[in-house]
Amino acid sequence: MGRVSGRSCIVTGAAQGIGRAIGEALLDEGADVCFADMNAEKVAAVAASNEGRASGAGGMVTHATVNVTDRAQVQAMIGHSVSVFGKIDVVFNNAGVNKPMNFLDATEENWNFIMGVNGLGCMIGMQEAAKQFIRQGGPGKIVNTASIASRQGFDNVAPYCASKWAVVSLTQSGARDLAKHDITVTGFAPGVVATEMWEEVDRDLMSIGASERPGQAMEEFSSEILKGRVAQPQDITGTTTFLASRDSDYMTGQIVMIDGGMTLV
Ligand SMILES: NC(=O)c1ccc[n+]([C@@H]2O[C@H](COP(=O)([O-])OP(=O)(O)OC[C@H]3O[C@@H](n4cnc5c(N)ncnc54)[C@H](O)[C@@H]3O)[C@@H](O)[C@H]2O)c1
Repeated sequence: MGRVSGRSCIVTGAAQGIGRAIGEALLDEGADVCFADMNAEKVAAVAASNEGRASGAGGMVTHATVNVTDRAQVQAMIGHSVSVFGKIDVVFNNAGVNKPMNFLDATEENWNFIMGVNGLGCMIGMQEAAKQFIRQGGPGKIVNTASIASRQGFDNVAPYCASKWAVVSLTQSGARDLAKHDITVTGFAPGVVATEMWEEVDRDLMSIGASERPGQAMEEFSSEILKGRVAQPQDITGTTTFLASRDSDYMTGQIVMIDGGMTLV
């Protein structure tokens, strides 16, 4: 029996990177998983490639195309998952974006794009997950992806940091409001994880003059990691499966740092 056997989960931003790894780790421990992402083709391929993994561990796999900023699409993602699995136990609000700009250059467009996906997308995901848990008669778990950028403000990514601080406050507000329905809300905060997001951030930081060569930003940014290396997505998943499991039932309103000892708060 895995830690999440028989539990039905949705993971957004699951076409690649951390979200994909979260979903695959849940499948490995017997959960049903809906991989959800706005990249329709890629998320369908990820789900298809995990069919064997799911049936081997006793779970089911499906996928949904969703833009997390669109409430109707989030409702459809939840409806689809319920139609396949019969219920939902855990929703991971993991989809996120970043687009570095120097502090004095950051624009309204940059703010609205990043806050839209990371902030509003998280709130809509929490609300629609909670409504489904309440319809089912509870309980339920919501797990949000925060960041070291939700513990410190960094100069080239101010709207991103603001959006990840928003994830922390949404986690706390949701935990306070939803406890009466037996719904817990937690989050986790990765440090530097080697994903496509970081490859793009690296390119963007070079284009705004904040670094000079590929890999420089990641090296400098992560030089203080006590564990001595950046994370792979699989470094995150022991904790995320715990947050989806009954072992974390008495936790709510908390953010777990998983950053190799980069930010000691
Ligand atoms: N990589 C890191 O170092 C790091 C560190 C801390 C936190 N995070 C957070 O972890 C989460 C995942 O990051 P990642 O590194 O795997 O990123 P990634 O860019 O590799 O993957 C993000 C996924 O989200 C999807 N997505 C983007 N906007 C969406 C939308 N509006 N609706 C639905 N899907 C959307 C993308 O298509 C993509 O598949 C994000 O919330 C990110 O902010 C990442």
